[in-house]
Amino acid sequence: MRVLVTDPITDVGLDVLRDAGHEVETGYELEGDDLLEAVSDANAMIVRSGTEVTEEVLTAAEDLVIVGRAGIGVDNIDIEAATDQGVIVANAPEGNVRAAAEHTVAMTFATARSIPEAHIRLKNGEWAKSDYLGTELNGKTMGVVGLGRVGQEVAKKLDALGMEVAAYDPYISEERAERIGAELVGLEESLERADFLTVHTPLTPETEGLIGEEELDTLGDGYLINCARGGVVDEEALATKVGDGTLAGAALDVFAEEPLSPDSSLLEYDEVIVTPHLGASTEAAQENVATSTADQVNAALAGEPVANALNAPSIDESAFPRLEPYIEIAETAGKVAAQLLDGRIENIEVVYEGEIADESIEFVTASALKGIFEPLKWQVNAVNAPQIADERGVDVTESKTRQSEDFQSLLSVTVSDDNGNEISVDGTLFADNDPRIVRVDGYRVDAIPHGNMVVTRNADEPGVIGFIGRVMGEYDVNIAGMFNARETIGGTALTVYNVDSPMPDEAKEDLEADERIIEINDITLNGQ
Ligand code: NAD
Ligand code: MLT
Repeated sequence: MRVLVTDPITDVGLDVLRDAGHEVETGYELEGDDLLEAVSDANAMIVRSGTEVTEEVLTAAEDLVIVGRAGIGVDNIDIEAATDQGVIVANAPEGNVRAAAEHTVAMTFATARSIPEAHIRLKNGEWAKSDYLGTELNGKTMGVVGLGRVGQEVAKKLDALGMEVAAYDPYISEERAERIGAELVGLEESLERADFLTVHTPLTPETEGLIGEEELDTLGDGYLINCARGGVVDEEALATKVGDGTLAGAALDVFAEEPLSPDSSLLEYDEVIVTPHLGASTEAAQENVATSTADQVNAALAGEPVANALNAPSIDESAFPRLEPYIEIAETAGKVAAQLLDGRIENIEVVYEGEIADESIEFVTASALKGIFEPLKWQVNAVNAPQIADERGVDVTESKTRQSEDFQSLLSVTVSDDNGNEISVDGTLFADNDPRIVRVDGYRVDAIPHGNMVVTRNADEPGVIGFIGRVMGEYDVNIAGMFNARETIGGTALTVYNVDSPMPDEAKEDLEADERIIEINDITLNGQ
């Protein structure tokens, strides 16, 4: 498979990809048509913050399975478009947290003690000792906006430095904040109490411009530190507030437009110290994020669940070997059920019985949906299947019970359509890795889900099975196996045939012409 890496990651990560047998192409600073051409035959793409993965890029990348982000922020990736196109987006959320937190603390000290400016003046031969009177962090209050991974790591470090932490994060519990020595308050209170304010939210429509003119006024004679994302702080307002002396200073690692233009007004003030997005730039962090991203790309290209997928259900690595066969059964049961119905699908129910009920089954359900939607020729995979269901108004329910009458684990997929028809297909694993369909519409069968199948409903009368076999033979359809079940003697029988080739329409018509045949469906599965 071909992996295109468009922002630099360490060689360790590239080696992880090559060791898995992938062809790795690096193309840094690709833009416009060059980028579109480079992605056109890529199966995976790895980026940092430098590449804009737009809808146009995703559309050009027809064979793309995954976009791996070697880092945390995914504001440069159109996740919605990726989901629409069934492309996984995965990041590496842990690997550079410490590096980003350390950089934040370093930037706080740097601005509080005017280190960059004093450094430059001394390098230029000036001993400006009397010009600088710094601010101690000990005993001061840091306002933290966004108390996620980086924010929490920063708060812990500041607590150890003797700072009070007044944090604002509407999505985190007071208990969690307390555990790391932070007090959870509203945004206004955080700004009012802060001597320093540090921002650690993602850039989203909600957080864009979160710290604007008004907020900076409330912060008053304090320092603003931003090592998260440029757009969260209004840069123009920031420059103005530093320029008119409202703010004591600012330390910025990130900017609304990167690279920062040399003409930016932010560069006019000694009180604004800047670094070129270096928060994650440590050897350890870069190795961490590169290997984590490469591992996830390898998993996605191998068809395995991806640990930090942001737009697809994921499975714990340790649970994957147990769940893998059920993922296949769910998809197969979905495919069979969808091909046994004619109408517009309205409801889907996936029921888990027995031991599998103890597992996290989100990905398995997504696979059942993929199986149901695929025969309808919708461009679907486990990434976009839940969204497709949602968009088309298909109701999906999932339920679990520890009880299972006959099997260690049983997975049942029930689909109903707008004609009022409903069909359920149940699957299980024999001897731990032998997938079987064990019930179709309540009829007990024992079918190997593979290749081409034919499901018939017919009168339970002598000679009917012989008749079906003879017609199939006339059309050169070889029967590899069959499983017959019936409601009552002389009632309706349901038979599942495994056949070596698809059944021609003429054969179907011949069979349907016989009044003993109630219904006949041919089913195509993968793996012929
Ligand atoms: P995270 O997702 O773990 O945490 C973000 C936190 O922000 C969450 O707790 C969330 O609840 C909170 N949040 C969301 N909306 C909010 C709002 N409107 N107001 C207040 N809080 C809000 O992310 P993280 O890993 O901690 O990363 C934080 C930021 O740092 C991201 O923007 C990331 O891209 C950036 N980052 C930058 C560098 C760098 O090199 N400078 C390195 C790593 C991370
Ligand atoms: C991140 O969000 O992880 C940072 O932007 C780090 C980076 O990739 O430079």
